Amino acid sequence: MIESETPDEPLLEVEDLTLGLEASRRPIVDCLSFRVHAGQIVGVVGESGSGKTLTGLSLLGLLPPAIQRLGGTIKFDGRLLSRSADWLGRGISMVFQEPMSALNPVLSLGFQLNEALVGQRRRMSREERKAKGISLLRQVAMPDPESRWNAFPHQLSGGQKQRALLAMALASEPRLLVADEPTTALDVTVQAQVLRLLMNLNHRLGLSILLITHDLGVVAQTCEHVLVMDEGTLVEEGSVDQIFGRPSHAKTQELVAAVGAEKALASRSHPTSGARHP
Ligand SMILES: Nc1ncnc2c1ncn2[C@@H]1O[C@H](COP(=O)(O)OP(=O)(O)OP(=O)(O)O)[C@@H](O)[C@H]1O
Ligand SMILES: [Mg+2]
Repeated sequence: MIESETPDEPLLEVEDLTLGLEASRRPIVDCLSFRVHAGQIVGVVGESGSGKTLTGLSLLGLLPPAIQRLGGTIKFDGRLLSRSADWLGRGISMVFQEPMSALNPVLSLGFQLNEALVGQRRRMSREERKAKGISLLRQVAMPDPESRWNAFPHQLSGGQKQRALLAMALASEPRLLVADEPTTALDVTVQAQVLRLLMNLNHRLGLSILLITHDLGVVAQTCEHVLVMDEGTLVEEGSVDQIFGRPSHAKTQELVAAVGAEKALASRSHPTSGARHP
């Protein structure tokens, strides 16, 4: 699709990313390097406070005002992202943990989707935006999208809210989706549906996904490659089989022991899990 891209070149390349309050203090994220290839689902796991969300936000140029990028580079699709303007329309989207706080409670779903589409490169008429918005809702398997167009967030279930957010994130036709705990607020059944949807989008659209979660079961079900963070550093990375079967870092061993490697890996071969995995 993009001429500059060679098959081996990663879609996202993060090198020595360092984030913190100020240069004189201990960084919150320290010299983090990782890659995401086109079409890959990469999991980011780690305890609360290990820097997962800040890492995700930095990929979109959305760091909170107090946090600065103190060093490192972010290269997406062969281009360095440094100034905040570099991010606009670059093909990275994010969905957040708490769908209710990410949706505006006083605006209808249709209004918010329309807004998401107004900002896109391709100019569309109001009718085109509505048609596109409905098709995005269909893409995320929102039941009865036409009638939900005028619904307000409080009229949607938790899973439907997360689908609505995903539809908005897809409005910019991203190539990489950063999904920060996308299923944590959902009950187990709905969680499985949303994970299936993410895998489906990965499969159908070739969407790369950076899946941030504290849940190793989710990672085993969904991801090919896993990054393990602890206190702002990457302590281990590898395939799902490596991380669960032969974790080498003490932190990884602790995380894997907490969920049970056998149980987590068993969930992979479940019929509802990723079709990409043999
Ligand atoms: N706006 C902020 N100002 C100051 N410190 C912050 C801010 N946001 C996050 N931090 C600090 O940065 C560290 C990493 O936060 P981050 O939100 O990335 O953790 P996380 O791995 O996503 O945790 P969780 O699993 O709980 O979501 C935390 O110790 C937190 O206190
Ligand atoms: Mg977080």
